[in-house]
Amino acid sequence: MRARTIASLAAVTGAAAIGYASVIERNWFTLKEQDVPVLPPGTGPLRVLHISDIHLTPGRHRLMAFVRSLASLEPDLVVNTGDSIAAAEAIGPLLDSLGPLLDVPGMFVYGSNDLYSPKPGNPARYLWRTSAGDHNRDEPDLPWEKLGGELTAAGWLDLNNRRGQLTVKGLGLALAGVHDPHADRDRYDLVAGPADPAAALRLGILHSPEPPVMDRFAADGYDLLLAGHTHGGQLRVPGYGALVTNCGIDRGRVSGLSMHPQVSPENGKTAWLHVSAGLGTSPWAPVRFACRPEATLLTLTPRSP
Ligand SMILES: [Fe+2]
Repeated sequence: MRARTIASLAAVTGAAAIGYASVIERNWFTLKEQDVPVLPPGTGPLRVLHISDIHLTPGRHRLMAFVRSLASLEPDLVVNTGDSIAAAEAIGPLLDSLGPLLDVPGMFVYGSNDLYSPKPGNPARYLWRTSAGDHNRDEPDLPWEKLGGELTAAGWLDLNNRRGQLTVKGLGLALAGVHDPHADRDRYDLVAGPADPAAALRLGILHSPEPPVMDRFAADGYDLLLAGHTHGGQLRVPGYGALVTNCGIDRGRVSGLSMHPQVSPENGKTAWLHVSAGLGTSPWAPVRFACRPEATLLTLTPRSP
């Protein structure tokens, strides 16, 4: 009898936790704000909106409303580190949600989920292996070229295995990005080489924060790296944190601001790293626990002389 009572209590608690994680927390969006002292002395500030992992499907109206609300921040720059869509029909709603943000200087890279439609599977499988092998299908089946074409047509820079440059608020930005390392589409050799030492900021972006790729960015002198993919662990244990990162980075840097330890021979510095916990989830793992969906406003400030 007692065992039965305990089992019943556990079942009720588990059902309540799943209900909370899928209905409440998954839609409990938050804006995080973080200063990063990375600009030359006497310059800035530069306000960078970092969005990632929207995984949009057309029915996610609360998510779209939150993304739409971000334009009121009036950032100087927008960086989208991928996994924007989870359905072919989501491109229109995504563009509509981004709205005025598309008029702000911006850039993007793809995540693997921009190429491959989500497939059902055990949502707990990430606890014992990464999803890196999930994308070994022959051909992408989502319209990633249309997605990239629309964002590019709006004025954002496509940094998938590409370099770029922008001038924002009078600051010269040297930019580089790679396609998603998690899907083995990164080709760092195409962007390799010292980042422009004359730029006010050298910014590298990628979807999955894989340390070997970030080592190369940092060695080339990039000051700040932005990534997503981890979903902050998605299911976190209060007091312990993320159980997994679903990539090569350690649990301690699963989201938020940290330093990447690689020292650049170009300038003797290490790079800042910001990993976004992202705004969405796979439609087949629609839960977040102790890991609210987020966008981040990074205020880049001068470093100390
Ligand atoms: Fe994602």
